[in-house]
Amino acid sequence: MADKRETDAISGVSTTGHEWDGIKELDNPMPSWWLYTFYACIAFAALWVVLYPSLPFVRGVLGYTTRNDFTGVMREQQARAEPMLARLRAATPAEIAADPELRGYALAGGRIAFATNCAGCHGSGGQGATGGFPSLADDDWLYGGTFDAIHTTISVGARNGENPEARGVQMPAFAAAGLSMAQVDDVAEYVLSLSGTGGDATAAARGAPLYVENCVACHGETGEGNRDLGAPRLNDRIWLYGGDKASVVRTIAYARAGVMPSWSSRLDAATINMLTVYVHALGGGER
Ligand code: HEC
Ligand code: HEC
Repeated sequence: MADKRETDAISGVSTTGHEWDGIKELDNPMPSWWLYTFYACIAFAALWVVLYPSLPFVRGVLGYTTRNDFTGVMREQQARAEPMLARLRAATPAEIAADPELRGYALAGGRIAFATNCAGCHGSGGQGATGGFPSLADDDWLYGGTFDAIHTTISVGARNGENPEARGVQMPAFAAAGLSMAQVDDVAEYVLSLSGTGGDATAAARGAPLYVENCVACHGETGEGNRDLGAPRLNDRIWLYGGDKASVVRTIAYARAGVMPSWSSRLDAATINMLTVYVHALGGGER
């Protein structure tokens, strides 16, 4: 192809030889500020490749990684927190709660640990959720609201099959354990009558002897519950699984088995102590 370069008559600059529909391009040099910035960028990139991780499998002579950076910061944080954590580990939850400095730290740390580990089931303020997740912010306790009781529950959990000490007996599923569905219905009416929410007094009267025979051992004569077994109180209007007739029938016929993980193998002693103090302070803590 013939070289079509020519000198432009007006500017006196040579053209590139490209032409589109009669429009020609002047061959001006790059502005030098642009050119030197460009060279500087290349030099910077080359230096970066040598110093920092950039190409696959090339670490860079500084040995810097964001992961190292992070573990360093974490270790520093841990070292700073360690004296306080050691005190929180050594003290009992009751001692922590009695010491204003430890208590403040435990409440702040407990709140964070609760949001991370517990809120998914118990709600962000420990308010619980229907479906078997008890409120931790009221004074209705399955296993007790003293520091010791809460500490044990958190450590071992309930019905989790992972901790041999786990709390919680298993309620029988009465549809398969000797009651007809009509009897389940009657005893459900009786259960509802214990908290004054039943509708059918005749059915409740039929259910009363069934309750004495099948339920008293765990739930108590007046439905007061049993903390050693984790059998909930039935004569209040607080329900784990719902207090409408259909839910109560379902509970009695097929039973429920709420599972709470065991935390002693997942969280360190200081964190469990902080959580105990935090949960105790949510509203229902007992002496
Ligand atoms: C997977 C869901 C789940 C998670 C996560 C969970 N829990 Fe539970 N928790 C339960 C269930 C279900 C029960 C009720 C067990 C029962 O019915 O016997 C329970 C019971 C409890 C109780 C006993 C309440 C009472 O009335 O005696 C305490 C205290 C408790 N949880 C604290 C915690 C703390 C603290 C954490 C976080 C470290 C936590 N839970 C994480 C499901 C969970
Ligand atoms: C072996 C002990 C045991 C026996 C016997 C038993 N229960 Fe239970 N019951 C429990 C336990 C433990 C729970 C809690 C289950 C859970 O937390 O998942 C429970 C839960 C319930 C609940 C749900 C309460 C709520 O807050 O939602 C009802 C209702 C109930 N039982 C009624 C009965 C009736 C009626 C009988 C007799 C026909 C009976 N139970 C017999 C142990 C027992």
